[in-house]
Amino acid sequence: MEPINDLKEAARALASGHLVAFPTETVYGLGADATNPAAVARIYATKQRPTDHPLIVHIDRFERINSWAIEIPDYAKDLAKAFWPGPMTLILQRSETAKDFITGGQPTVGIRIPNHPVALGLLSEFAALGGLGVAAPSANRFGKLSPTTAKAVLTELSDRLGVEDKILDGGASEVGIESTIIDCTKELPSILRPGAVTAEMISAVTGLRVSEPDWSIRVSGALEKHYAPNAMIELDTRPKQGEGFLALSHEATPPGVIRLGAPVDTAEFAKILYDSLRKADELRLAKVVVLVPNGDELAVAIEDRLRKAAAR
Ligand code: TXA
Ligand code: MG
Repeated sequence: MEPINDLKEAARALASGHLVAFPTETVYGLGADATNPAAVARIYATKQRPTDHPLIVHIDRFERINSWAIEIPDYAKDLAKAFWPGPMTLILQRSETAKDFITGGQPTVGIRIPNHPVALGLLSEFAALGGLGVAAPSANRFGKLSPTTAKAVLTELSDRLGVEDKILDGGASEVGIESTIIDCTKELPSILRPGAVTAEMISAVTGLRVSEPDWSIRVSGALEKHYAPNAMIELDTRPKQGEGFLALSHEATPPGVIRLGAPVDTAEFAKILYDSLRKADELRLAKVVVLVPNGDELAVAIEDRLRKAAAR
């Protein structure tokens, strides 16, 4: 299966009920028409994801949110204005259009406008064909690393996609970790999954305190083990000969250790994180030691992913 660049062809595939993997600035998504139950069922089958884990609906323009959500609080509109298109998903009360097969039976729906020209182009071509939105989880097998390149999508899914499905190539994802998920169904916003839009940024825009999340809400990323390569991940220990090593560039590589990445800051760390761990699997390394960065709020999101990758 070869990645394509034709957005109209990809949008037609979506409208015909096929799957389209596409780049976003966070990670690659596996998209289907969010109003088509059979197409959405194929996302779950392809990923082997349990069907009670809800999907994010992707749209290209804020106005389209009204097809999917109701009773949108003012602070959610402020967040949308400030950070969309961007690495942020808002959880809102669902409309009639957001059926149980999208929301996992929950009364809420997740919405995002991604900031990537290929994603936005695909979403608007799909809208031009009458589409209301594209449901898209990360384009990996359930529990595995999210893909940040078209090649990684092929590694994850090529043997599971059909001949009518498509993969769009848009280069490497710039942010590299999944969007911040913000619950906007309560008086105060709360973060269900940390990402590049941080608590500090949310407070600055809304003037509100970010409250503790309600963990009765199902977020698949909240599972203990997730985002995992085949290699065993160990955090903040000293790597031994023959083991993989990922750390900020100022950390030296001990002798005989395989350096998988040397990012200069947390932004670059997030960007290369999943691809570095994929490299470990390509090299068939048994173990990777990662020195968890700290210092800013993006580090919080990186640590969240690494703790889940390291869980046994
Ligand atoms: O950056 C991203 O968000 C990427 C790109 C492709 O947009 N998408 C992504 O989707 O990470 P996925 O399905 O791998 O993770 C979405 C998370 C899941 O953990 C899901 O449980 C949660 O969003 N979610 C979706 N709808 C929800 C809802 N109504 N309530 C609570 N959590 C929800
Ligand atoms: Mg995912």
